[in-house]
Amino acid sequence: MKNFKRHLITAALPYANGPVHIGHMAGVYLPSDIFVRFLRAQKKEVIFVCGSDEHGVPITIRAMKENVSPQQIVDKYHQIIKESMLGMGISFDIYSRTSNPVHHDTAAAFFKKLYDDGAFTEKISEQYFDEKANTFLADRYIIGTCPVCGNENAYGDQCEKCGSSLSPEQLINPRSALSDSIPVKRSTKHWYLQLQQYEDWLKTWILEDHKEWKPNVYGQCKSWLDNGLQSRAMTRDSNWGVKVPLPDAEGKVLYVWFDAPIGYISATKELTDQWKDYWQREDTRLIHFIGKDNIVFHCIIFPAMLKAHGSYIFPENVPANEFLNIEGQKVSTSRNWAVWVNEYLEDFPGCEDVLRYVLCANAPETKDNDFTWKDFQERNNGELVNIFGNFVNRTMVLMHKLCHGKVPVFHNDIMDEKDQQLIRDIHSTKTNVEYNIEHFKFREALFEVMDLARKANKYMQEKEPWMLAKKINEDPALQKSIDNCIHLCLQLTANLAIFINPFLPFTAKKLLHQLKIVERVLDWENAGSLKLLSVGYSLRPPELLFRKIEDEEIEKQILKLKQGQINMENQVNQPEEKNETQPLKPTIQFDDFSKIDLRIGVILEAEKVEKADKLLKLVIDLGSETRTIVSGIALHFTPEEIIGKQVVVVANLAPRKMRGIESNGMILMAEDVHGKLFFVGPDSSLPPGSKVS
Ligand code: MF3
Ligand code: ZN
Repeated sequence: MKNFKRHLITAALPYANGPVHIGHMAGVYLPSDIFVRFLRAQKKEVIFVCGSDEHGVPITIRAMKENVSPQQIVDKYHQIIKESMLGMGISFDIYSRTSNPVHHDTAAAFFKKLYDDGAFTEKISEQYFDEKANTFLADRYIIGTCPVCGNENAYGDQCEKCGSSLSPEQLINPRSALSDSIPVKRSTKHWYLQLQQYEDWLKTWILEDHKEWKPNVYGQCKSWLDNGLQSRAMTRDSNWGVKVPLPDAEGKVLYVWFDAPIGYISATKELTDQWKDYWQREDTRLIHFIGKDNIVFHCIIFPAMLKAHGSYIFPENVPANEFLNIEGQKVSTSRNWAVWVNEYLEDFPGCEDVLRYVLCANAPETKDNDFTWKDFQERNNGELVNIFGNFVNRTMVLMHKLCHGKVPVFHNDIMDEKDQQLIRDIHSTKTNVEYNIEHFKFREALFEVMDLARKANKYMQEKEPWMLAKKINEDPALQKSIDNCIHLCLQLTANLAIFINPFLPFTAKKLLHQLKIVERVLDWENAGSLKLLSVGYSLRPPELLFRKIEDEEIEKQILKLKQGQINMENQVNQPEEKNETQPLKPTIQFDDFSKIDLRIGVILEAEKVEKADKLLKLVIDLGSETRTIVSGIALHFTPEEIIGKQVVVVANLAPRKMRGIESNGMILMAEDVHGKLFFVGPDSSLPPGSKVS
């Protein structure tokens, strides 16, 4: 590899049209952050840039749907995303946004330079226009019948049923996804980048000179290049975006994929006056971290733009990850099948590193992978708590118990094979972690660190210093063996802090505190050292690094996922009924009503009904008696959270068998327009059995 003087690391700019979910974290932000933290620990000169991608059609559509301005949409999500990144410890040097004036100027000037150099061709073409919404329709927003398979809901760029890649013209009976109206053709002028002019250069640059790129990235590039490149419009008809800096370009903006990657440059400009060193000097190593749907833009279109401009360097590597599925299903923001980072941070305060750990251990580096809450819990309880946390805690406790709270001396004369093996393990961990991070194999690297913790546990288990301590009265020389074991385990703990730091920075901080060492100790050059803690140094009392995650917490998350989807489905199925109340039932007489015996009850017990997703079996105190009632609320509430609730019970409803359980009565629930359920009950506590009428 070339000897680079500085590193410029970019992470794909997330669209500011929604919060970020764990798939984004696993695919882009976490790996880039680990990489950057590793470089910083190696004392490399590095900057890490990112920001919100605030232009593009999805944002204008979202604004239209929510009846607010695009600016309001991006302001809202920019803030949420920025906080999620910070909360997860993603250590950008700058998190900017493409609505900033610096960016508009930079992107417009970039376009103008290419225009002046004759890099574009002007073309007038007929494009679909939605007269009702008064806008040209991007490919994705034209829906029609697929000419290949007959699917009536194919998109203008692709049929998701048969996978054919389409153009809007090929759709039969096209309609607008915005207004459902039939679009008309209008002619419009755009500027096209002649990608084919860069084809030969791209072929050499990627296919010859970057054979080391990840197979998924290299493969996609090869297939694009083998198929031959075509000119591509770099402008769009819209009022939201960077204005095309030409006369007669009213209502035209830069294509979002033209302006967004320039956002990396603008963000660097905002960050430092030395931005040209980072972008224009050959001794900078530029690396783009992205998700797989971004490959063509970062490997072909953006490099072609940079080439056309002429003053910029090209990426050394573009590590792209595959996708992370959730509980066996593809993430879908429209179906609300996602785990949102901002919600995770609220639901699991202090557990940032747990998510970092699980997402890295399970990262979709070479193929799509699956996130499940069960696996999240098992990895936390079985690996972080039981292996890593347990080792550190045992070491600290024993040091306080058996060595007076100080780092004991190491007696070289009695060093044995087990000690030597452990020392070799520390050294090989260093080599292996380095190799793997440098090759973007973060899961493997993390596994190496955990494996060291595993070996350390085993070492401790075999040495059994607590057993030696029991025999010390008979044989005082055993103290030397205890000292050696604890000394090594402490040095290993300090090494673990260095090793784990790029992956779990919050945990590394906690370790620094317990070991009373300064941040500088985490420098990578110290990894492998057995002199990180000096003999006689007194350390703080142990604090647990990780806590156990309980079944209920996991059940709640699974419920939330399912319920989010139910709410979404209700919205999708009855879009027009939103905010409308149900029509009233026919009138009844008082006599009809007075036949119903309503009573206040208190939920004493609640449990899931086996093999029935929706049912909970409740035991309810009705004052004079307790009742078993089966209720269809299991997708809305966990058993734990409803115990003790006061409810209104239809007490004289005829018994009914549900899943083999006799249900004696019914509880009243209120329902909002999204199908969310609410309990109905007295506004202050009443004795069970009280009448309701
Ligand atoms: N917003 C795009 C996405 O989420 C990524 C843009 S990356 C950049 O897929 F290079 F354009 F900035
Ligand atoms: Zn099709």
